[in-house]
Amino acid sequence: MTDPKPQPRTFHVKSFGCQMNVYDGERMAELLADRGMTAAAEGLDADLVVLNTCHIRERAAEKVYSDIGRLRREDGSRPMIAVAGCVAQAEGQEITRRTKAVDIVVGPQAYHNLPGLIDDVVAGRDAVDTDMPAASKFDVLPGRTRRSSPTSFLTVQEGCDKFCTYCVVPYTRGAEVSRSWSAILDEARALVDGGAREITLLGQNVNAWEGEDEAGRRQGLDGLIRALDRLPDLARIRYTTSHPNDMADGLIAAHGEVEKLMPFLHLPVQAGSDRILKAMNRSHSRESYLRLIERIRAARPDIALSGDFIVGFPGETEADFEETLSIVRETAYAHAFSFKYSPRPGTPAADMDGQIAPELMDERLQRLQAAISADQLAFNQATVGKRTTILLERKGRHPGQLIGKSPWLQSVHVEAADARIGDIIEVDIVSAGPNSLGGAVVARRAA
Ligand code: 5AD
Ligand code: SF4
Repeated sequence: MTDPKPQPRTFHVKSFGCQMNVYDGERMAELLADRGMTAAAEGLDADLVVLNTCHIRERAAEKVYSDIGRLRREDGSRPMIAVAGCVAQAEGQEITRRTKAVDIVVGPQAYHNLPGLIDDVVAGRDAVDTDMPAASKFDVLPGRTRRSSPTSFLTVQEGCDKFCTYCVVPYTRGAEVSRSWSAILDEARALVDGGAREITLLGQNVNAWEGEDEAGRRQGLDGLIRALDRLPDLARIRYTTSHPNDMADGLIAAHGEVEKLMPFLHLPVQAGSDRILKAMNRSHSRESYLRLIERIRAARPDIALSGDFIVGFPGETEADFEETLSIVRETAYAHAFSFKYSPRPGTPAADMDGQIAPELMDERLQRLQAAISADQLAFNQATVGKRTTILLERKGRHPGQLIGKSPWLQSVHVEAADARIGDIIEVDIVSAGPNSLGGAVVARRAA
């Protein structure tokens, strides 16, 4: 433990990694504000810095230590430092052993205890909490506050029971747990009252969400989406991330029926070869994934598909990798993330034979990214000439320029001097690049 520190009055939360961390970071900021602390724009100006970390790949996990190193002021002093998120869960006490600069270690299921942990540091006590308590943090976190952005994340499900052999998530985030129907709808109403026009439902396996509605009927994610659809001031609904095996018929049907559900689906396949999918313990095959995509496209023909890919999984041959390239060709993703395999301590794949040389991984990653980029550009170009709506999210670089999102999650730049952030406006798509579109305003929507 470091020496006792004075009670912090200002804080800075920095989140790495996935959208669930962004959400947790917001909830921690609200918790600290609720305690009377104020936000500081920069880490070095704050009395308390929360590093909300990601453990999914080695490079993500190492970032936290370089960030801690930089948190030293000119006079040699440091803010109180809390390491939160998945590195905290995975490494626990080890972090305070590795670096004396860290005062608090708090896992993703325990961050509601942050105020008590701060008091522990002030009193000179140990402040490590990586419990996964049965009682949910959501029951004690303060209510949602008004936010400046018209888009909001809402975590509805956490954890993962799938145990893909490369992945740390089942260990850092624990077993699959669904939040209750009423807690989710209450939070959604608060977000909409606070100005949210779009809500993205979040979960490591969001489409595994299950619960009971107010009448005691069993519901899946599609039921929740249909309930959100009934909130009058909410305009758009999205959800991420989904597992192919949890794509229920009702959810697929919802894509064709619920107008507010945006035509975008992030559905990672990870690899194209059945041999590798089996070694990854993905519990779906290439064929079953492609058939699923067909059914989703039948329900919603214009849906934009997104995915995640890992190259260089242990034992991956050139032929296996070519099957990944061919699944990309067959699916024609609108967008996708691709990563080099990163062995994670404690996961089965880290001990498998046939670990792939870094140079070969680099080469495969480049080939895969070239294929994905070509599809992404083609998808964007295919929207040129379409009339659609965009939700304005932020200002652009030029005066009068605003950036909004299309239903297919593309960024669209428009000149719209009289429009405001949060407006939904109609545009004609006039140009397309690899990462964004240009739009011309048609008319303001009476929203
Ligand atoms: N190495 C590389 N990529 C990984 N992912 C998860 N674990 C690893 C790993 N050990 C990727 C998967 C997942 C995304 C969030 O991160 O593609 O879908
Ligand atoms: Fe990790 Fe697989 Fe669970 Fe996704 S489904 S979080 S990749 S174990």
